[in-house]
Amino acid sequence: MTALADHAMTWMKLMQTASRQARVDLLFDYLRSHGQSSYDPSVSQLEHALQTAHLAQQESQLPHLVVASLLHDIGHLMLDEHDERGDFLHQDWAHEAVAARALSEFFPSNVVTPVQRHVSAKRLLCSLDGAYYEGLSEASKRSFAVQGGPLSRFEAERLQALEGMQDAMALRRWDDRAKAKGFEVPGLEMYFDLAFVHLL
Ligand SMILES: [Fe+2]
Repeated sequence: MTALADHAMTWMKLMQTASRQARVDLLFDYLRSHGQSSYDPSVSQLEHALQTAHLAQQESQLPHLVVASLLHDIGHLMLDEHDERGDFLHQDWAHEAVAARALSEFFPSNVVTPVQRHVSAKRLLCSLDGAYYEGLSEASKRSFAVQGGPLSRFEAERLQALEGMQDAMALRRWDDRAKAKGFEVPGLEMYFDLAFVHLL
């Protein structure tokens, strides 16, 4: 059972009643204030989000994927999951589903679906590519097991055919590299206009 943090419920109520312009401010304030906790020993949750978005911006011509990359782990914040609280590595609270449910009120499916599928994308990549699994961090290998582990061939084929899965796999590869200590990347303000134009 998921345990949505009180601040997540308060934030969602504010988002639902805010104007379109104010929503980006509320969204970024939430990332800023709740993203200071550790994603892992190397980076904060906010640094992880910014590094993922930066890699997406550098390597993709698809603006919706930059927004998705920036927001892909907001479910961790909403569940108060962070590195100092190791229990989420032993129990899957489906942060990707929590994020997708929240974001779907404000963003179109080309932003939401890669977020929703970024955990399945890891399982799919692990199943298709042994070198990919070996390259994962130890924490990511542990959460992979908790998230269900390897897929059967039938499951892998079914997942590969799902809408948005190619985007989700691209996001996932940036996600995996966005854990670099001292990797200086642009701040949140760089993404304000991009987030705004993608709001519903
Ligand atoms: Fe991530």
